[in-house]
Amino acid sequence: MDMSAIRNDFPTIRRKEGVYLDSACQSLRPDKVIRAILEYYEDFPSCGGRSVHGMSAKVSLVTDEARERAAEFFGTDDPECYIFTKNCTEGINTVARGFGLRRGDVVVTTDTEHNSNHVPWTLLSEEAGVKRRYSVSAGDGEFDAENFKSAMGKDVKLVSIHHASNVTGCVLPIREAAEIAHDAGAKILIDGSQAAPHMKVDLKKADVDFYSLSVHKMLGPSGMGILYGKRECMEDLKPLTTGGGTVGLATYDRVDLAPIPDKFEAGLQNYSGIAGTKAALEYLSDIGMDRIREHDRDLMWSIFKRTEGIKGLSIVGPDDPDRRCGVFSFNINGLYPHDIAMMLDKMDNIMIRSGMHCAHPFFESRGIGGSARASVYLYNNETDIERFAAALCKMAETFGGR
Ligand code: ALA
Repeated sequence: MDMSAIRNDFPTIRRKEGVYLDSACQSLRPDKVIRAILEYYEDFPSCGGRSVHGMSAKVSLVTDEARERAAEFFGTDDPECYIFTKNCTEGINTVARGFGLRRGDVVVTTDTEHNSNHVPWTLLSEEAGVKRRYSVSAGDGEFDAENFKSAMGKDVKLVSIHHASNVTGCVLPIREAAEIAHDAGAKILIDGSQAAPHMKVDLKKADVDFYSLSVHKMLGPSGMGILYGKRECMEDLKPLTTGGGTVGLATYDRVDLAPIPDKFEAGLQNYSGIAGTKAALEYLSDIGMDRIREHDRDLMWSIFKRTEGIKGLSIVGPDDPDRRCGVFSFNINGLYPHDIAMMLDKMDNIMIRSGMHCAHPFFESRGIGGSARASVYLYNNETDIERFAAALCKMAETFGGR
């Protein structure tokens, strides 16, 4: 498939609404996903798993199919192990609150986590006496296996690490991490929000216990996520929210929680979001995740090449395009990250993100105030990168270094 042809599938690209380099925050959506959302509202805007009429049956069918697509997409064969959440953050919180951690239990994370995989554990430690331990990354944010091993111990009950960093783009070897965690008797949860959109993730091979991700970073609807867990882990996990749909039978003084996945999906769900999720997974599968990864890599090489030598440019994270997962975080001497982002927008409709990217401890520990960040995806092309680099160069020459 010619990657340039897919640009026509995206309404904002067809309308030439600028250069979108903020996909690590939220991706653009193709027609197929938008149509699936509309179809739900136009054709079968009902509930799933409750009423017995035809419209409701259609919702239940689409929901089941979306779960099946997820299982296929992530290389496992048990759709019931996938639950729909509103984002990766909710998935992580579900594990944090439902895993049964007790006072004195240790949770290991890296020192380079997004707040989604930092704040829930910090609050648990304040509220319930759960202990934190950090695996320290190598200088540029890379995984340090020896340091990770040294963080392990009998008291570690859970490891929770990112698969790819939304700042440095470094990809962590989750299979190796799972082996180390399991050898220590701990379970492992992966924040997959930045990796799942960009590479083939085989959860069976990775052998991780939980994997949480945001669908809105991978062409799906806003406010949709997926939490995967091995069957026994999901069965042991307590739901974050309970209520209608989560029980077999409830009497005045007793409830029997429903089997997975139902016990996690309380109340009416975001059915249009589930329909859009199914469409997004199908769209990505049709293109092929290996192909998407190659394309992202080519774009990252192009960014590095075209920005080389820009006055005052410094890169946050490894300066090797192959070691970045679609994100290029940088600073320009003398300019604030938000100024860079606003100027790029005003100069040539180039949309990037700026700030601390919800990875506060990473920036704070390194004494960096934040960064600008350009992130690429399957619909970006060489012209996008050319425009970005040209605008950046002009900005650095005109306003940088003061
Ligand atoms: N985690 C998202 C980002 O990196 C919001 O932009």
